[in-house]
Amino acid sequence: MEKMLLNNDLIDNDQMKLSINDRGYQFGDGIYEVIKVYNGNLFTPTEHIDRLYRSADAIRLVIPYTKDVLHKTLYDLVEENELVDGHIYLQITRGVSPRNHAFPIEPTEPVLIAYTQTAERPVNNHRNGVSAILVEDIRWLRCDIKSLNLLGNVLAKQKAHEANCYEAIQHRGEIVTEGSSSNIYGIKNGVLYTHPTNQYILNGITRQVVMKCCQELGIQVVEEPMTKEELLQMDEVFLSSTTSEITPIIKIDDSIINSGKPGDFTRKIQQAFEEKVQQVM
Ligand code: PDD
Repeated sequence: MEKMLLNNDLIDNDQMKLSINDRGYQFGDGIYEVIKVYNGNLFTPTEHIDRLYRSADAIRLVIPYTKDVLHKTLYDLVEENELVDGHIYLQITRGVSPRNHAFPIEPTEPVLIAYTQTAERPVNNHRNGVSAILVEDIRWLRCDIKSLNLLGNVLAKQKAHEANCYEAIQHRGEIVTEGSSSNIYGIKNGVLYTHPTNQYILNGITRQVVMKCCQELGIQVVEEPMTKEELLQMDEVFLSSTTSEITPIIKIDDSIINSGKPGDFTRKIQQAFEEKVQQVM
């Protein structure tokens, strides 16, 4: 029987019980992370744990464990479940209290749950690229927090699926922000363009790795907002996330990017990323 983490305890999956008064369930009052596991090893765990604590701070939630304890507990979970390739899902809510919007007067214990999921790497997408649509970004103004409130993202992704596309690229007015569950990049004349890290996007951990890869490859990076029109004029477009890694985008709405083929710069960045994955394998 696979185990799940409930606060400090590893319990059998079928023993997991959560309260309907959990504020995560009623308000989305919590935060989460998705951490990739390659060959039983966590990829960029420190970066994910740091971001989790930053998200917690931003919603005034105090995580009752040190980063080191949490790190070790996540390794224990992976080991216990003998996870080889896949990811960890982890969330922490503000805890259990009768429904009332304001924080509970009596401080609650945050509720942490985590589980592992086996998943194959999406190598076909990496090789061939995917299609995307443009959708208006209707989310709140703190997209930098990895909050459990994902309704805007969910509605965007559903539109993409209904259009037989892999991702919805969101824009606020003319400005492209990010995907429904990924960061978005364009390459023009060998220069990489992507939205700056502010309240309009999540500072992706994979994005941070992409920035490092570009630095190592000598690819110039411009972190400035780009318009929808500019995105469609790019030589190459790709997305990044923990589970999608680096996935070329070859079509956006009716516009074909780079004759429908992943571009050379995207390939170079994929290769540099792969070398970092191989280091933990
Ligand atoms: N999503 N932007 C949004 C809105 C995201 O939801 C994600 C990740 C990213 C990329 O972040 P990272 O590189 O740290 O995974 C950007 C995760 C994977 C998810 O919700 O499943």
